Amino acid sequence: MGRGVGFGKVILFNEHFVVYGIPAIVSAVGAKTTAIVDREPGLGYELKDERPETPGYKAEKLQQQRDSLDIMLKFMNIDTQKHHYVITLGGDLIAASGVGASAASCAAIARAFSQELDLNFSDEKINEVAYEGEKGYHGTPSGIDNTAATYGGLIWYRREGSAQRMERMQLRKPVEIVMGNTGKVADTKSVVAGVKDRKEKGPEKYERLFQDADQLVRDARKELESCNLDKVGAYMNANHRLLQEIGVSSPELDDLVKLARENGAVGAKLTGTGRGGYMVALTPGRELQDRVANEIHRRGLDVLCTLIGV
Ligand code: MEV
Repeated sequence: MGRGVGFGKVILFNEHFVVYGIPAIVSAVGAKTTAIVDREPGLGYELKDERPETPGYKAEKLQQQRDSLDIMLKFMNIDTQKHHYVITLGGDLIAASGVGASAASCAAIARAFSQELDLNFSDEKINEVAYEGEKGYHGTPSGIDNTAATYGGLIWYRREGSAQRMERMQLRKPVEIVMGNTGKVADTKSVVAGVKDRKEKGPEKYERLFQDADQLVRDARKELESCNLDKVGAYMNANHRLLQEIGVSSPELDDLVKLARENGAVGAKLTGTGRGGYMVALTPGRELQDRVANEIHRRGLDVLCTLIGV
């Protein structure tokens, strides 16, 4: 039996912009996806998906999940005509949009196969396999989600051509965040394609927005590393505005952002694909974290409370 783990993630700055080579900041969250691989007589594979989910997520992603697995098996040179593999997914990360569920499962599966078949994959190789797996979910991943899923921690990430560049970031002390789930499933492939389409139709507007996003994340990094959390929060709010302008927010996300800010969050924005999925709020201190989380919970929505910079 082989076992593997992949971290869920929260993008703090510059989802979508990162697809075009603009830097972004991502952190692992406390919740993880686990994978177990069992080898049995016979051929083919069977996937048992026991992850908790936002209702409808697994059904909606089923075909993409199969495509992703096929790509990963091929990339790892695993022959499913020799053995039958039972792959079981579990863990405490909710299978939902915006929290890196697909990437966490890809990294976990790659690790579980590596252990079961004594492949001795390095983290770098696991990350490569997970990146290939992400292509099943959306054609042109930037690589940020698989990088966070594989390595964990707080990461400054940038895509340079085909290279995935990561730098570890350190905080003086961990900071509390709250993630609120709209409960809506988003299709990353079509949301990413929508940005591309609008960018092609309005190159000047998008050029300006992309330059703003580039400058914003560099300024935000300095403030985050200096623990100036009020300023970091203001940059998160500004990043949300840029994401609204490129058309990836939604009324549900805007409502959650407003709710978090009204309850004292120092900043809040959508996180990940957008159009559904999660909002992230910066809520330094347990008291503020609890207050914002309770308000979201009162609306009947799932909440994930975690720390960044652990
Ligand atoms: C999805 O978690 C993040 C996006 O920027 C897509 C990507 O980077 O591949 C929307």
